[in-house]
Amino acid sequence: MSKIMSQQKSVLVTGASSGIGLATAEYLAVQGFHVYAGARDMRALGALSKNSNITPVQLDVTDREDIAEVKRIIEGKGTGLFGLVNNAGITKAGALMDVSVEDMRAQFEVNLFGVHQITRALFPFILQVKGRIVMMSSDSGFFATPFVGPYCSSKFALEGYADSLRREITPYGVKVVLIEPGRIVTAIWDKGEKSIADAQHHSMFWKEAKALGEYSIRKGKTTGLPPIAVAGIVHQALTLEKPKLRYIVAKNSFEYRLMKIFPAWYVDRLVLKKVREVTRLAEKNTQSSK
Ligand SMILES: NC(=O)c1ccc[n+]([C@@H]2O[C@H](COP(=O)([O-])OP(=O)(O)OC[C@H]3O[C@@H](n4cnc5c(N)ncnc54)[C@H](OP(=O)(O)O)[C@@H]3O)[C@@H](O)[C@H]2O)c1
Repeated sequence: MSKIMSQQKSVLVTGASSGIGLATAEYLAVQGFHVYAGARDMRALGALSKNSNITPVQLDVTDREDIAEVKRIIEGKGTGLFGLVNNAGITKAGALMDVSVEDMRAQFEVNLFGVHQITRALFPFILQVKGRIVMMSSDSGFFATPFVGPYCSSKFALEGYADSLRREITPYGVKVVLIEPGRIVTAIWDKGEKSIADAQHHSMFWKEAKALGEYSIRKGKTTGLPPIAVAGIVHQALTLEKPKLRYIVAKNSFEYRLMKIFPAWYVDRLVLKKVREVTRLAEKNTQSSK
């Protein structure tokens, strides 16, 4: 059982069982925060559960009962809550015309409705201490890649959600910060590999969707930043007196800034060129391996 010191600020991190959430929970605990580490399966928290600054909590963000229980735990411990890090997320990919409505709903269930559900539930704690809400968005929250439509849509929605929320609650002293990571080396890419393996091979978009999916996964695994890079930014978002409203965490943040200012028709042209190039390369590789 962790012993929480009265001067410690408490923060809840959702999706702390792996990747960015795990690194963030660990980093914040080392920096002196008391962390409620949310996981769907608490066994996945492993050694983290033994850290005296960490209280593991069972938390599926789509489950009302789990959320109610987390509220009870925070009340019971009497720590209040200074920060909420909405990190939990899933990725549904594929050509949009192949994506079922059920898959689209499942995507939004976690990445948007889950965020809304837990933020609403815990807002009274955060309001009380004029705390902070950190949203784990993505480069996909401002740059929509083809064949990852469900995920991009959900992160664009999250950005809109965070902007509206910030404009509503800033006057009450609560800060809302969006974090927009580019490629980060986590299990997200292995999960992507699995979904390509399970995908619909008969689709008219299959060749491009597969080529681009495999290309992104390869790049993600080999050129991504470590999750600790995001954890450090989350810490800044929670501790700087005046944090930025948005943080891009990527090696190529300059390119992203350009994409934000180029006209859409020009970005479309660049994207299409890339899709053709990557698909051609994948075909060439398939032929040479036969
Ligand atoms: N990796 C990147 O390149 C990257 C880039 C931009 C943004 N992001 C964002 O960063 C966040 C973390 O992703 P990651 O890369 O660290 O991937 P990850 O290793 O797959 O972690 C995702 C986390 O979300 C949890 N989760 C999934 N569904 C949940 C639910 N219904 N309730 C509670 N937790 C749930 C997972 O728990 P389980 O272990 O139980 O599945 C896991 O802990 C996501 O929001 C993602 O969109 C990642």
